[in-house]
This record gives sequence, C-alpha cells and structure tokens, in this order.
Amino acid sequence: MASQFDVIVLGGGPAGYVCAIRAAQLGLATAVVEREKLGGVCVNIGCIPTKALLHSAYIARLLKESAEFGVETGAVKTDYGVAMKRSRKVADQNSRGVDFLMKKHKITVVKGTGVMQPGRKVKVGSDVLEARKAVVIATGSRVKGIPQIGLEINKTTVISSDEALVLEKLPASVAVIGAGAVGMEFADIFNAFGVPVTLIEALPRILPLEDAEASAELAKSYRKRGITVIAGAKVTKATVGKDKVVLDVEAEGAKQQVEAAAVLMAAGRAVNTENVGLKECGIQLTERGFIKVDQNLQTTAPGYYAIGDVAGPPMLAHKGSREGIVVAERIAGKQPHAIRYDNVPSVTYCHPEVASIGLTEEQCKERKLDYVPGKFPFSASGRARGTGETEGFVKILREQKYGEILGAHIVGAHASELIHELAVARENEYTVEEVELAIHAHPTLSEAVAEAALDSLGRVIHI
Ligand code: NAI
Repeated sequence: MASQFDVIVLGGGPAGYVCAIRAAQLGLATAVVEREKLGGVCVNIGCIPTKALLHSAYIARLLKESAEFGVETGAVKTDYGVAMKRSRKVADQNSRGVDFLMKKHKITVVKGTGVMQPGRKVKVGSDVLEARKAVVIATGSRVKGIPQIGLEINKTTVISSDEALVLEKLPASVAVIGAGAVGMEFADIFNAFGVPVTLIEALPRILPLEDAEASAELAKSYRKRGITVIAGAKVTKATVGKDKVVLDVEAEGAKQQVEAAAVLMAAGRAVNTENVGLKECGIQLTERGFIKVDQNLQTTAPGYYAIGDVAGPPMLAHKGSREGIVVAERIAGKQPHAIRYDNVPSVTYCHPEVASIGLTEEQCKERKLDYVPGKFPFSASGRARGTGETEGFVKILREQKYGEILGAHIVGAHASELIHELAVARENEYTVEEVELAIHAHPTLSEAVAEAALDSLGRVIHI
C-alpha cells in the first residue's frame, strides 16, 4: 500500500520546506521529497553561502582602508579558499537547521527524486506516496549557460555560481555575463579578492530592473573600484580555450574582445520542470515555461499546486516562502491574506547594497502617474559619515494627491535591512506622511528614509 499523507511537497527549498512547516503547523500529515540537501539552492548554493562570501569581501575592503580609521593592519592578504570553506560551513549549518525543523514538526523527509502520477501520487524510486489533499510542486531552478553563442557551462573556464561557490582558488581574471543579482554579487566578491573583473550586461544598464538612478550609482561605484562595466552589450561569439575564453562583444556600435581566464554565467536561471510528471498529471506550462497557476497557485490539475521559482517570477526565496505559507493555508481550508506581488522587496547584496520595492521612477513616468520623488543621500547622514559608508541614497516616489508610496529605492550600506520599513508601510497602505510621522532615532541610517519622505513633501531638513 502506498504511504499516505495529507500533503506531499516536491522539493525542500525555501518554498517547499516552508510550505511543509506551515502545513504541519495546521495539523496536516506532511512529506517533503528532496534528492539533495534540504534548503535547496538558497541554503546550499545560493543566498546563504553568497552572503558569507560577500561579508568576506566587505572585510577585505574595510581592512584595506582601516588605517584611515586609526587601525593599522599591515598588508591585507586574501584567501578565497578560506572564505569559501567558511561559506560552506555556514550553508551546512543552515541546511542542518532545516533538517531540525523537519523533525521538530514531524514532517517525513523522503530522500530521492519524486515523479508525480495522476491521483495525487508521487513515485520516489520504487515507493509510491499518496496525498489525500494536495501535491505541491516546489522543484526550483538551476543555472544555465548560453550554448547558442558557445557558452555552455564546462565547470572550468565557463562556470556558474554553482562552481564559483566551491572554488579553492580564484581564476586570474573573470568576465561576468549578466548584471542581475548573481552577476553583481560575484563581481563584487571577485573584485574584493583582487581578481580583474569585466561585467557584461545585455540591457542598457546594470541591474536593469532597478531604478535607473540605482543602476547609475552602482556603475559609478564599481568603476571606481576598478571593475570594467560594459552595458548594452551583445556577446556575439565565445571562443572557449583550455585556460582562457575570448568573447566578441558589441556595445554602442563598437566591437571589442574581452579575454578572461574564466567566464561566470549569470544570465538567468532555468526552471526544473522536466521529468517530474507534469504532462502525465495534466499540468500545463505558460508560454515562458513556468507552471501555469491560478490566483490560488493551483495548477491546471486540481489538487496540484506550484510555488517558488517554477510558479513564475520574481525568482526569489522570500517570494517562494510566502507562496508556500499561503498554499499550505489554502489546503488547510483557510483564507490567507492574498500575496501582493507588487510588494515583494528586491535586494542585491553587493556593496553598496541595492534594495527596492514598488515602481521605479521610469515606470511611474511610463504609467503617467502624478508623482513627486524625494531623495536623501547618505553623504548627508551623520551615521553614514561615521562609518565612512556615504555612497548611495534613499529615494521615495510619492503619489501627489494621496501620498501613496509608489516605490522606494535604497542604495547604500544596510539597504537590505532599511527597505523593510517601506515594505511594512506599503503592505499596510501607509502614506509617505505616515512613514515620516514615526520618530526615527538619531543617528541612524533609517533617518535617511524619513528625510527622503520629507523631501518628497518639500520639507527635507538636512540638505
Ligand atoms: P537575472 O535575471 O536577475 O539577471 C540576469 C541578467 O543577465 C539580466 O540583467 C539580463 O539582462 C542579463 N543577460 C541575459 N542574457 C545576457 C547575455 N547574453 N549577455 C549579457 N547579459 C545578459 O538572473 P541572475 O542574476 O542569474 O539570477 C537568477 C535568479 O536568482 C534571479 O531571479 C534572481 O533574482 C535570483 N537571485 C536573487 C538574488 C538576490 O535576491 N540577492 C541573488 C541571486 C539570485
């Protein structure tokens, strides 16, 4: 007889394992099927280890400037292998943390590759599991190359973040293709560890989905640090050798060659929808290859849900986790608060950090919205001057008539933390005036949020 559960979750990443925990909290007998370590890409080869490496990068840069702060350290030596091993430990700790959470909530973890079958069944090896209520697909995504132009990931000269995260030694030089979150974060890390970096982005600016002022601030900061930034660039051909890659690049009408010891592919990810039994169960895909879901995240087959990267963009851990919670609650018969997809914060953890929520100024213009931008630079913040982290700004886009926070964009130290004041405000439909009314402690970076709010009202104090 098949093992029976109320809910079977396929995939133990941040969408799947969070869904399982919420389902278990609601009294549902739950199983998670995972072939690798629990925690998925995020915990093992994504968000968590990269944040550990970015902190090493931060320390390397800080120490190089430490004399200015009255601290002499002598010559700073970096060792990527040591930083990498530390990041692996951090990732492993987190993965074991997920193991613990599964046990705590009495969730059955089934090791192996799950393939769905009709009738809410999942086959794992020779075992067949059966779900009384629902199967939740949370199989995530994986790195991808661009074989069309000769850039197939070969794990030596053409690598992805998967390989970059376990290198003992960095290549002599790196060309990074794609200036989204992955490309920006690794360009930052490699640069701090002394590797010459060329960052190549197809769209007209790096971090193309962010506000144009945020992109410009990062381009300025990266160039100052010696990173070569080529935007609006088309890689037409790649010649992959044994110990180097030569890229033919066209940008602004001019052709150039970029040579590097290795290329890091950071041009997006592919979703894991193959060989999981979608077709057999009647589960359809969208034109872009994501699993088609309705507003309840149910697929085209009743009783099968999809969450996280496979369910569509943004491909972010926190979006997947929230979908996991909402789906678990729906399966348990609750009426969860609907997800506001326009209110998912986006964060890139490079230095300076970039964080945003809502519309960019360009989108406000396109939509012909009546808005007023308010901006406050960290160079005018006493706290930022104290730590020497004066790059960046807070920018708030205020709707003229009712004071709605249309969008907020932060570039600077701890932007990843600061953005949440505006996330709470937007989720609760506070106005810009209401954000400013809250007294912000002095001296803090958060004061820049209040000042940007005041600037949009024509009442900024410190500039
Ligand atoms: P992405 O889609 O965010 O960025 C890829 C970039 O590559 C885009 O800017 C795109 O225009 C560019 N690109 C595509 N083809 C190109 C080509 N042929 N030549 C040059 N540039 C090209 O994808 P990314 O950075 O690989 O990240 C994958 C996913 O993981 C994303 O959904 C991302 O949001 C998520 N992620 C999130 C992180 C975070 O929240 N901090 C960190 C890492 C990944």
